[in-house]
Amino acid sequence: MRTALVTGGTGFLGSHLCEHLLNKEFFVICIDNNSTSNQHNVQHLMQNPRFKLIQQDITLPIKTQENAEIAFHLASPASPIDQKRMQVQTLLANATGTKNVLEYCRQHNTKFLFASTCEIYGDPLVCPQNEEYYGNVNPVGERSCYDEAKRFGEALTMAYNRAHGINTKIARIFHAYGAGMRTDDSRVVPSFITKALKNQTLTINGDGNQQRSLCYATDIINGITLLMEANETMPVNIGNPEMISIKELANKIIHLSQSKSTIEYKQLPINDPKAKCPDITKAKKILGWEPKTSIDKGLKQTIEYFKQLITRENE
Ligand SMILES: NC(=O)c1ccc[n+]([C@@H]2O[C@H](COP(=O)([O-])OP(=O)(O)OC[C@H]3O[C@@H](n4cnc5c(N)ncnc54)[C@H](O)[C@@H]3O)[C@@H](O)[C@H]2O)c1
Repeated sequence: MRTALVTGGTGFLGSHLCEHLLNKEFFVICIDNNSTSNQHNVQHLMQNPRFKLIQQDITLPIKTQENAEIAFHLASPASPIDQKRMQVQTLLANATGTKNVLEYCRQHNTKFLFASTCEIYGDPLVCPQNEEYYGNVNPVGERSCYDEAKRFGEALTMAYNRAHGINTKIARIFHAYGAGMRTDDSRVVPSFITKALKNQTLTINGDGNQQRSLCYATDIINGITLLMEANETMPVNIGNPEMISIKELANKIIHLSQSKSTIEYKQLPINDPKAKCPDITKAKKILGWEPKTSIDKGLKQTIEYFKQLITRENE
């Protein structure tokens, strides 16, 4: 049986990935310390004999002796609210944590994929961003604990590839949304949906014309699993180049959730980072991949998930 290791597997994207790999008949070892998630996302997988959950901080060495053929390293705080609360942990999950997964891969001859981010482009001076762009990152800014952690993670991945011959991949993931996110996740889609379902006011900073790139979770998972199988070591952008304005997003969510919410506009914070938009020419060419889920379909599915989540949280 083929075995896969997934760190951060009880989180939003990680749980979709575990489910995808189980559907592909893998034995899945999930490592997570539940610092930004709980076991709810994988509750439906717990009875599966091909699913094994190890509760562990990834900054400690991986002890399991099972031989995984592939390892996806997703363990890291990802939402801005979590990064702010866990700044040092964010740096270490992508530094020591990445090293621990790479060491496991070295010992077990495992293929490795690092879940990087569009935030490595910082406050980009070009739009859209392709993989050749080196980025514009403030190393000591408010967001540096995440941006620089992921840049270090990419550098470490390449060092293990060049120095130790590990078969490595780097996915630069742009903003994802979908079932499995938390109601108190500060990211725009869960925040708007949670407020809309409670008929509360949605707040927009600025005039709402700022654009966002949003990619549905299952499209992201298809992209990164294809990348794992591809013969490519250098980074690949995985995201949705179709942009939507924050105002349109808010209105869509209010409409699709049949909410009575209204929208209020507040001043845009100083230093609000410029929008990121992926150039996915490379992913299209080498993976034959592009997002398939329309924003309406993705939002409808996400709203259904949040309806159940809010009911459960109120019980
Ligand atoms: N969701 C996105 O839009 C997005 C975009 C770019 C990159 N990414 C990357 O994808 C990965 C998953 O993101 P997500 O949105 O699913 O976040 P998430 O917070 O839902 O999941 C992260 C998981 O990692 C676990 N974790 C954190 N630190 C850990 C540690 N030290 N040891 C063990 N487990 C730990 C958390 O408990 C959680 O289950 C992250 O690496 C993130 O940087 C996500």
